[in-house]
Amino acid sequence: MVEVISFFGLGYVGLTTAACFASRGFRVIGFDNDYNKFKAISSGVAPFFEPGLDEILKISLEKGNLKVTMDPNTAVLNSKVTFITVATPSKEDGSIDLSYIKEASKMIGNSLKLKDEWHLVAVKSTVVPTTSEAVVKKIVEETSGKKCGRDFGLCVNPEFLREGNAVEDTLNPDRIIIGEFDEKSGDFLERIYREFYGQKIPPIIRTTPVNAELIKYANNAFLATKVSFINMIANLCQKLPGADVEVVARGIGLDKRIGPLFLKAGAGWGGSCWSKDLKALLSFGLKIGVELPLIEATLKINDSQPYKVVELAKMALGSLRGKRVSILGLAFKPNTDDMRNAVSIKIVEKLLSEGAKVTVYDPKAIENAKSIFFERVEYAKNIEDCLRNSECAVIVTEWDEFKKLKPEYFVKLMRDPVIVDARRIFCPMEFQDKVKFVAIGLSNNFERIQKT
Ligand code: UDX
Repeated sequence: MVEVISFFGLGYVGLTTAACFASRGFRVIGFDNDYNKFKAISSGVAPFFEPGLDEILKISLEKGNLKVTMDPNTAVLNSKVTFITVATPSKEDGSIDLSYIKEASKMIGNSLKLKDEWHLVAVKSTVVPTTSEAVVKKIVEETSGKKCGRDFGLCVNPEFLREGNAVEDTLNPDRIIIGEFDEKSGDFLERIYREFYGQKIPPIIRTTPVNAELIKYANNAFLATKVSFINMIANLCQKLPGADVEVVARGIGLDKRIGPLFLKAGAGWGGSCWSKDLKALLSFGLKIGVELPLIEATLKINDSQPYKVVELAKMALGSLRGKRVSILGLAFKPNTDDMRNAVSIKIVEKLLSEGAKVTVYDPKAIENAKSIFFERVEYAKNIEDCLRNSECAVIVTEWDEFKKLKPEYFVKLMRDPVIVDARRIFCPMEFQDKVKFVAIGLSNNFERIQKT
């Protein structure tokens, strides 16, 4: 029997998961207390760009499988399970800000007070170890006057969605993690996922809540470390004649123990998750007296990586003062309009502080960029506008439409062009012959450039 499920918080994770469940015939109620979000979603438009999401959102609303509400009671009283999918941002000191988790737990508890039947609460938001026990369980028990394990169930159920791939990742996850406070809760959540995935059910790990909480952090920390590792090797390559990090990454990636994914060197990693999660883990470690030096190094490498890109431009141009620089790509990665923690911000700010005149272009993120750079940069409508009469083009986000560009195109539009490939999308052999070409992780050729 397909149960009614509700989601508290309709951001990336909540809305995508809710729409995916609804698209597979589940009856879903999404709660959010942000009126603008509520209005947009009710009319079938996601408040952010995510490939494939608007389509399933519209279909689910039309079929009546997905309902959106601003009333917590409507969500809890008419469903059997509530997923908490609210944001867990960073505080000033890097530690986790649990205010939305507390608020959601309180609302759920207050609604449960009005409910006679057993209800399952599943924490999908990323929370540092012990939060589900010490915060969610405690608050729901206090506000509902009910007992966890008897009157309501509780699980930790992290997600691993990538922005830009969130729908695909929800429909085809690598695994499902269920951290259960009691067997009934775990059984119930497992049954829901078995109904959702049918024959294509991925491996399920049932474990303690604290393991489930930790798995999410260890997962993000490991991936971020892998990227920072290859960026560190890239910096080494730049100083070594004949070295190229792309080849080194391919060479080590074929080792099955390492694997080829998340070994793409570039301008550094960004996005809403890794930085806040790594800082939250560091801060949590500190609180319980455990140092996490590898996480510190991962963050440190990433903090400086965007500046390596500006250094490349500066070395190739001589000085940045008064130079026209075009930025291709602003989003923290392709297929999203998200600029949270995007490395483009550091790169543009540094270029501006060195006196460059900056023009930016991104297929999706221009509107978001306007509230970051305001009048300090020029906003181009397309690639051509962005490159015309410029002296240096920096590839900051590897959108597909940039990958097709040929060196002749840059030569036609720009003045004696310098190309800085910070995402390694171009073939150095093809470009080096026709333009001044430098790239992250590629043995530098400044002497040759300066001679030409
Ligand atoms: C990440 C995790 O992958 C996901 O499991 C978690 O739930 C949320 O955080 P996301 O931030 O959407 O997802 O993006 P992801 O595709 O993981 O990329 C993160 C950053 O690393 C991006 O800025 C990307 O450009 C960069 N990256 C990734 C690299 O620089 N090199 C790589 O090889 C891979």
